[in-house]
Amino acid sequence: MSRHIKVSPSLLAADFAHLADSITIAEESGADELHFDVMDGSFVPNITIGLPVLEAIRPLTKLPIDVHMMVVEPARYAREFASAGGDIFTIHLEACDNLEASLEDTRLSGMMTSVSIKPDTPATTLKSNLQLIERILVMTVEPGFGGQSFMPDMLPKINEIQKMAQMAGHKLEIAVDGGINVETAGDVIKAGATTLISGTGVFNHPNGMALGIKAIRNAAN
Ligand code: DX5
Ligand code: ZN
Repeated sequence: MSRHIKVSPSLLAADFAHLADSITIAEESGADELHFDVMDGSFVPNITIGLPVLEAIRPLTKLPIDVHMMVVEPARYAREFASAGGDIFTIHLEACDNLEASLEDTRLSGMMTSVSIKPDTPATTLKSNLQLIERILVMTVEPGFGGQSFMPDMLPKINEIQKMAQMAGHKLEIAVDGGINVETAGDVIKAGATTLISGTGVFNHPNGMALGIKAIRNAAN
């Protein structure tokens, strides 16, 4: 594979008591960006971190920060997350009453537009708004918790999205999130993924994060 595969460590798997250290390690280990999971206890059963934590970590790194909003009507917060330092705003199709308007709010905030779909949501639901979307994030587990097992039946959906973008002549990043590790990375890359989000797969890699990131990036080679 000649295209550069981005690896995005998910901070949900970091040691929150030493978050600054985890971020330094991720940056020094060759991460392309950081993944920041926001959960509201409503769209998903879990509650995690939000604006004050993003503001606190923003000065610590130059890496782009992908804000994964597992939040009902996420676009309500687009401007605030942009001001707090978010670069990519990943909103769930299932959480938006009007996806087109939510994408417009994201665009106006200055962040990259990114839409995530849960495992049961088909790729075709994004077709009508494709031109407004810069990245699609395919969830390869049910959102809500780190450390779950990768769902291999999501592979055809990744491929379908790649084909859909190709047919439309639309430049699109395809990200995957959930259960991504050295074992599962090769298949998602072959299916068309360009950005691999990994929490436990890189933070708990037995040989350290740098080797974990490298192994994931090169898994299809
Ligand atoms: C889950 C989150 C993921 C999570 C992934 O809902 O969106 O970003 O941190 O964790 P792993 O890589 O451990 O499955
Ligand atoms: Zn996530």
